[in-house]
Amino acid sequence: MTALTLSTAAAPGLRADAIVIGVAKGAKGPVAAPGAEAVDKAYDGRLAGVLDTLGATGAEGEVTKLPAPAGFKAPLVLAVGLGGEPEKDASYDAEALRKAAGVAARTLAGSKKAAFALPLTDAADVGAVAEGVVLGAYSFDTYKANGKDAKAKNGKAPLAEAALLGGKPRDAAHKAALARATAVTEELNRARDLVNMPPNDLNPEAFAAIAQTAAKEHGIKVQVLDEKALAKGGYGGILGVGSGSASAPRLVKLSYTSSKAQKHLAFVGKGITYDSGGISLKPAGHNETMKCDMSGAAAVFAAVVAAARLGLEVNVTGWLALAENMPSGSATRPGDVLRMYSGKTVEVLNTDAEGRLVLADALWAASEEKPDAIVDVATLTGAMMLALGNRTFGVMANDDAFRSTVFEAAEEVGEPAWPMPLPEHLRKGMDSPVADIANMGERMGGGLVAGLFLKEFVGEGITWAHLDIAGPAFNEGGPFGYTPKGGTGTAVRTLVRLAELTAAGDLG
Ligand code: BES
Ligand code: ZN
Ligand code: ZN
Repeated sequence: MTALTLSTAAAPGLRADAIVIGVAKGAKGPVAAPGAEAVDKAYDGRLAGVLDTLGATGAEGEVTKLPAPAGFKAPLVLAVGLGGEPEKDASYDAEALRKAAGVAARTLAGSKKAAFALPLTDAADVGAVAEGVVLGAYSFDTYKANGKDAKAKNGKAPLAEAALLGGKPRDAAHKAALARATAVTEELNRARDLVNMPPNDLNPEAFAAIAQTAAKEHGIKVQVLDEKALAKGGYGGILGVGSGSASAPRLVKLSYTSSKAQKHLAFVGKGITYDSGGISLKPAGHNETMKCDMSGAAAVFAAVVAAARLGLEVNVTGWLALAENMPSGSATRPGDVLRMYSGKTVEVLNTDAEGRLVLADALWAASEEKPDAIVDVATLTGAMMLALGNRTFGVMANDDAFRSTVFEAAEEVGEPAWPMPLPEHLRKGMDSPVADIANMGERMGGGLVAGLFLKEFVGEGITWAHLDIAGPAFNEGGPFGYTPKGGTGTAVRTLVRLAELTAAGDLG
């Protein structure tokens, strides 16, 4: 992953492949952002005019390349759009910096070293640019390497090194921001790797083994329930979903504990390593990206490891509910009744509504420990994508204040999210003539129906939130900002922020 350093060096003398500067959209054309002073000076104060001539506007996502002026060791200046200029005396928005840094890092794939001369006013800005660089430089090349050339990312290796100019290597706050950004984004990129891994390689057993290795490396306690242990424990939901697959399901529990913790958070992730729909098979056109159905579990895994790397003073338990949803002679049929870990029975009307079944068992297991709050993350419903599009996740909760806390945490870290309700009247649509509840209800409001189903499996009195990330988990379009094509790692940063807020005693 891209190595980051803080540097007080002046831009001209830096040996790098490129100097990255920011351009904002001013009222009268492009404006060179603070940080670009040395470049502007070398252009005799005409940088804004030069950018204008080249067609730059400062719009978000825009990249303009210009030859470095005389006296610069680096050959190239890369000007990235920051969007609108901030109000007078205000600094640039952290998310604008993150996106600009991400676009630059991606554009510079194939380069060895770049110096980022973006407008930094405080440690938070240092963190934002650092995050943008590592996230934007991400590429998934494991399966392109042809066994020989590990650099074969469309022929270009990710940017190897980034120096953040204006970052102070001796400033404790700057150093802490850099360390935090590094830990969070490296783990987030690992979550992206897991999502991008093909489902023939990442089955439940393989995912559990990866979690085990990482947990050991970071001092996290790990327990894996295999199919025998799941059967012994009565995990009917996870077993029912996994029964059609040649790869058996797993429930992984990751426990990060801090000796200074006052609170305990539980994160629960949907980990369907492939969702074919089961007997209620998905039609062609709806299954090509279904390796992404373990994105919730990947996010939970990454967040727990990040919490451990950051040494947060909070106990965090991660639950990965791993199964492959396949049709076969041993698969769960529409009409089957499953006895769940909580003791409730569920009539399975549609085997494609499998996420709620594995989550139900994991939510109940998480509830047994009586954590202060539970947050589950799941690519749960197509309905949530219809409601919110493919960049925003829905936030539901059994507590309005907690829903706001989660939503605000997401906003703070730059993850688009939106609060959604859990209307009680939708519950009766899941009444079953034979079991305690059916796994399907009314079609309208399908994302909320799924949320209401999950709510039934949260222990009495436990604060709980549900993130339906079906939209933003997997980017089928081209890359944008610091988001690559494929697995995005959505929700990792929100979970980490929630853990930080909880450690600080600020949980709503
Ligand atoms: N994994 C899907 C949801 C999904 C769809 C995620 C598209 C990402 C992109 C989930 O298991 C599913 O199939 N849900 C059904 C539920 C329905 C049968 C009640 C859906 O949303 O259609
Ligand atoms: Zn499904
Ligand atoms: Zn699914």
